[in-house]
Amino acid sequence: MAKIDTVLSKLNYINGEWIGNERERMDIINPFNGETIGSVPKMGPHETDMAIEAAYSAFSSWSQLPAQERSRYLKKVADIMIENKEELARIMTLEMGKPIRESRGEVEYAASFLEWNAEEAKRVYGRTVPGRDASQRITILKQPVGVVAAITPWNFPAAMITRKMGPALAAGCTFIVKPAEQTPLTAIKLMEYCEQVGIPNGVVNLVTGNPAEIGNTFMKNPKVRKITFTGSSAVGKHLIRQSADQIKKISLELGGHAPLLVFEDADIEKAVRGAISSKFRNAGQTCICANRIYVHEKIYAQFVNAFVHAVGQLKVGNGFDEDVQVGPIINKYGYDKINRHVQDALNKGAKVAVGGKGNIVNEHACFYQPTVLMNVTPDMLIMNEETFGPVAPIQKFKQDEEAIQYANDTPYGLTAYFYTESVTRGTKVMEALEYGIVGWNDALPSTAQAPFGGIKESGIAREGGSEGIEPYLETKYVSMEV
Ligand code: SIN
Repeated sequence: MAKIDTVLSKLNYINGEWIGNERERMDIINPFNGETIGSVPKMGPHETDMAIEAAYSAFSSWSQLPAQERSRYLKKVADIMIENKEELARIMTLEMGKPIRESRGEVEYAASFLEWNAEEAKRVYGRTVPGRDASQRITILKQPVGVVAAITPWNFPAAMITRKMGPALAAGCTFIVKPAEQTPLTAIKLMEYCEQVGIPNGVVNLVTGNPAEIGNTFMKNPKVRKITFTGSSAVGKHLIRQSADQIKKISLELGGHAPLLVFEDADIEKAVRGAISSKFRNAGQTCICANRIYVHEKIYAQFVNAFVHAVGQLKVGNGFDEDVQVGPIINKYGYDKINRHVQDALNKGAKVAVGGKGNIVNEHACFYQPTVLMNVTPDMLIMNEETFGPVAPIQKFKQDEEAIQYANDTPYGLTAYFYTESVTRGTKVMEALEYGIVGWNDALPSTAQAPFGGIKESGIAREGGSEGIEPYLETKYVSMEV
């Protein structure tokens, strides 16, 4: 695959200018083969403050623009993304390895957050409320928070930016993104689209560089009023502590450890299909991937046979091959964690039903075979921590209560899945699961229409749905005596 020169010639985007040529650069690696595909400037506190200043200066005019006009800009960026779907998808597959069909799907998914929020922009309503006596009138205003700084992950290089940028811009906030070190090229391309549709200077900005330096600068600068982050729970906790100093608003979409429950009356074919798509999407590198599967003993053998067979058919390899379903692991660090989970399970008595091995091509290119583990027990690492890889451990259960107890026995609360054809059982299960997102016979619940986010240690606030714009708004009430 040739280098994408149009992207590589671009730099950081601050106040409508492309800057950073003279700076030290950070390499971007193709995780399929470990080759360097380009580089971006390693910016620090100075440039981050420049971006904050630009966003701060642009705030007044952007926030006063009629919502209808902000909406039109968002819609135009969504349209240009769809027009350039192939280009953007190829950049994503190049820099993070996901299968090209998933990358194309991600472009549509990412654009949908801009489209959705283009509509939400027009529906930021205040309220009037009857006062406490005849002379009082109360008016409630919704106003944009101010400058928003986003720190986004590598696993969805486009969608995790638009899911933040969409509601921020719709609400009237201005925006700075620090994309993951592994996937800045997609982010740069998104900034190019914003420039092409004429979003005014300073409204969107991008800085690449050391995450801690840039993050600390966001936190120290009082002009940043909100931080929005998708990533690990450990980093999320650190950001909560840091944000306390200036009481910055914060939205966090953090780690998960999703259970997938298959009840005795499940449609097994549907459950197998769902488990495959949830577990192996993006090589298991999503926060909402099913991380552990619990199957009722009556259908255990039937489910396992069908599931193991289907997993054995998955094609691993270069994301650019149209029929590849599982790409590389993002890096050696991710690979080591997966391997540690598998080895720990094997040491404690688990058995490999299919897969079970990794392949380190070189220090920057690693793969892990789609794997199913049986005979797993609750004490194993894989049953307690997010694996972020293509490994599915399966445990048997006898009673519904037991399955729900297993499912809820975790500090995480992002996503849970279950399969049952019974409305009565399903209603009880959906109410009992302590998760922000529940998929009932649905393994791909994510959509711009719904409020994505977790409870417990999986996060704060929601992204998408009519709830998604709220974290970018302040509520002010005006009490009037007449
Ligand atoms: C994530 O893994 O963080 C996002 C997954 C999704 O939006 O479906």
